[in-house]
Amino acid sequence: MNHEDEIKNNSEVTIKADTTDKVEMKTKNKNDLKEQEQEVKIDNIGDQDKNKNGLDEKWPEPIVRVQSLAESNLTTFPDSYIKPPSQRPQTTTVNYQPEPDAINIPVVDLDSLFSGNEDDKERVSEACREFGFFQVINHGVKPELMDAAREAWRMFFNLPIEAKEVYSNSPKTYEGYGSRLGVEKGAILDWNDYYFLHFLPLFLKDLNKWPSLPSNIRELMDEYGEELVKLGERLMKVLSSNLGLKEEQLQEAFGGEDVGACMRVNYYPKCPRPELALGLSPHSDPGGITILLPDDQVVGLQVRHGDTWITVNPLPHAFIIISNSIYKSSEHRVIVNSQKERVSLAFFYNPKSDIPIQPMQQLVSSSNPPLYPPMTFDQYRLFIRTQGPRGKSYVESHVSPRYTSENVPFS
Ligand code: OGA
Ligand code: NI
Repeated sequence: MNHEDEIKNNSEVTIKADTTDKVEMKTKNKNDLKEQEQEVKIDNIGDQDKNKNGLDEKWPEPIVRVQSLAESNLTTFPDSYIKPPSQRPQTTTVNYQPEPDAINIPVVDLDSLFSGNEDDKERVSEACREFGFFQVINHGVKPELMDAAREAWRMFFNLPIEAKEVYSNSPKTYEGYGSRLGVEKGAILDWNDYYFLHFLPLFLKDLNKWPSLPSNIRELMDEYGEELVKLGERLMKVLSSNLGLKEEQLQEAFGGEDVGACMRVNYYPKCPRPELALGLSPHSDPGGITILLPDDQVVGLQVRHGDTWITVNPLPHAFIIISNSIYKSSEHRVIVNSQKERVSLAFFYNPKSDIPIQPMQQLVSSSNPPLYPPMTFDQYRLFIRTQGPRGKSYVESHVSPRYTSENVPFS
């Protein structure tokens, strides 16, 4: 497909926005296994520094492909996927088909927004503050490219198992074909397989780690990555100016040209007991903005809104984005069903991974101090990579008592 071919489309995109601007982490010390606070160091952990990130080459238990389980005519549902009752979906019947008229998350026309429509800008602002999720239409990414990308990945997951195992991943970098998130032995697992790959920074983009089949998948994903980085840049401008900052400021704080971009393709096989399991446990994404392309035929994504979980209706050609503190970093999860598998592409637009992430100086004051001490994205992401998806426990446990209104390092 041709990049210059600037066509407008009426497709819809789901947006959730996340500026992970202030975080502190606690991590398990590998040697004494005691929870201890880890000092903020700027240069110690990361994909760039694979030997020092503290994660092993091996998973703690043999990997079981969920897709193989789903296709094996199980007589009993495996215990390792049964969530404790309080965490189950709470619905006995899951209708997997989208209901276009059902309540949905806010919809924003990006084309209109960029033509100067203040109402659209305000709608994004409100969605980020109240919800942390919204959908965008007229986003500039061609619907054919979106469909082709999703279908290429569906074909990949439908390849024989041997063709996929070549790309089997490890907790060290997570790149490749995987079936769990987190390295805790005996953890209750999620009902999905996935594929994780890097687009940016360029030194992490390694086409040999992308699947070679179907034959067009590398080329397609290359184009998809370029288009989504462009969309990410445009969205950053909106969020930045909505925060009262200069348009370029958020992007600059993310490292300017050196932002990160990676993608997790999720494959949720049919599940014989969807009322006992989850496709993806509650979590908030660790990065900057997530642009999610959901399956347009199968629902599954739910967003927490207060005490309820709202099922997102996948409007044709939709994506997703998140935020923090002023902007909500929304907790979300995925439910599964027994009728139809589901494929989604979560594209993560992230800050440069080794720079300290902290609030913009203009946004903090003695009456509105930072909630968390600075840390790097590499450090923050280590949580989900070791402990797996655990709601918002990472963020919540890091609110620092050291940062009170009397003790503000940035004011
Ligand atoms: C994710 C995610 C949602 C989905 O990959 O982080 O939240 O709909 N995916 O698959
Ligand atoms: Ni997510």
